[in-house]
Amino acid sequence: MRIAVVGSGYVGLVTGACFADLGHEVVLVDNDEKKIVALRNGEVPIHERFLPELLARHRGQRIKFSADLQAATRESEVVFIAVGTPPTESGDADLSYVESVAREISGGVDEYKVVVEKSTVPVYTSQWIRTIIIRDGADPALFDVASNPEFLREGTAVTDFLYPDRIVVGVESERAAEVMRQLYGPLTSGWYYGRGEAIPRPEAAKTPPRLIVTSTKSAELIKHASNAFLAMKISFINAVASICESVGANVEQVSDGIGTDSRIGSRFMNPGIGYGGSCFPKDLMAFRAVAKESGYDFRLLEEVIRINEEQRHRFLRKVRSVLWTFRGKRLGVLGLAFKGGTDDIRESPALLLVQELLREGCHICAYDPAAMERAKEVLKSGVEFAADAYEAATGADALLILTEWEEFAALDLERLRTLVKYPIVLDGRNLYDPAVMVEHGFSYYSVGRAAALTEETTARTLAKKKERA
Ligand code: UGA
Repeated sequence: MRIAVVGSGYVGLVTGACFADLGHEVVLVDNDEKKIVALRNGEVPIHERFLPELLARHRGQRIKFSADLQAATRESEVVFIAVGTPPTESGDADLSYVESVAREISGGVDEYKVVVEKSTVPVYTSQWIRTIIIRDGADPALFDVASNPEFLREGTAVTDFLYPDRIVVGVESERAAEVMRQLYGPLTSGWYYGRGEAIPRPEAAKTPPRLIVTSTKSAELIKHASNAFLAMKISFINAVASICESVGANVEQVSDGIGTDSRIGSRFMNPGIGYGGSCFPKDLMAFRAVAKESGYDFRLLEEVIRINEEQRHRFLRKVRSVLWTFRGKRLGVLGLAFKGGTDDIRESPALLLVQELLREGCHICAYDPAAMERAKEVLKSGVEFAADAYEAATGADALLILTEWEEFAALDLERLRTLVKYPIVLDGRNLYDPAVMVEHGFSYYSVGRAAALTEETTARTLAKKKERA
């Protein structure tokens, strides 16, 4: 099928590249000419596994880049809107980009097309898109609007697209439903999974995926409610972790015990320094605004947000309780991205913590495998950027683990021990077994688990206490 994808951001790029891999002809549209030129020249603007391979495979063949939205609309049977919906001051989504795209699409509707909203948007947006396209002159019989929310996680977006748990399609006509079924046919029929060239299957993937057809309003709500539920799971386990710390229980054991109940599930139950990123914080605020507008006061969401912020402050208090004073201390920091596997620092709890520590007068030596370039634009002074985790740890009064990168869970602990000034690790992501850290001579503090102190540190602390007395 011939598809236009409007918006070459994170969602648009992944969607376009994956549809090309399913055999469709894709034109990726963006009004930023510079971006288009860069993409044509082979640049890949975001750090996303398998995306460079897919773009290289299809660039100039099944995937083309253009700044001309009307021409792209005319050429396409399906037009995806994947532009940004940033939050406004009051927390609801700013839909002005979606509106201006809908306006332009209107001029290209010359034969039947399905216009699909892919951006995360509040309920009623698809109705508005339809109204705007008609208002700008398109024949109502020549198009339908569908809602096809994405459930992609940054870092695993390509495999999330190609091996989804489900595909949700919200439509108002059987004709649009049929177009969407055809579009995803290569996945739902299992055809894609039999190809030698297919992107490798993640371990837990169940194929073929189910395609769930709903009304457009239900599809819009499914997206917001899914993200809100996942964020709630994280805040829930973070709250439980705080209780574990108070009573001396172990949150890993508790989370395992809860998560094995198949009604609850063990995923998204890792405690830490809170969720971040460009989706959860924004979508929770937007969903709260949507609820309010519909007359429902969704206070549960406010609590989810409050627990999330408190989690970061709690970790900072923990660092303070270990280091006593901050001014002049040298801290090694592992991780700046909002989670592992991405260079995205938007609403990153790691970055927010680093900023707080800088305000307190700490000196930071940070390392992140992908996010340093972006972080450099935000962190101007007081921060050194290291070439690897070991350099970041060198001479540190304490080492902080703030992002769950796989490589941070596999450090050479013997080597690390020889590099730090004091063998103190504060792990905001629970990447290590406390007993192993102690065996390697570290005092280790994590989330929702008792601190594991080395005898050496304990002895030194006692000696210091005696000295003071
Ligand atoms: C999230 C959703 O998981 C996707 O399904 C959705 O499509 C996407 O938002 C979106 O709306 O576009 P993403 O923001 O990429 O995806 O990242 P997640 O993997 O969900 O992680 C979000 C945050 O939660 C990260 O800061 C991560 O560190 C944190 N997290 C995640 C935890 O603290 N604990 C967990 O158990 C899981």
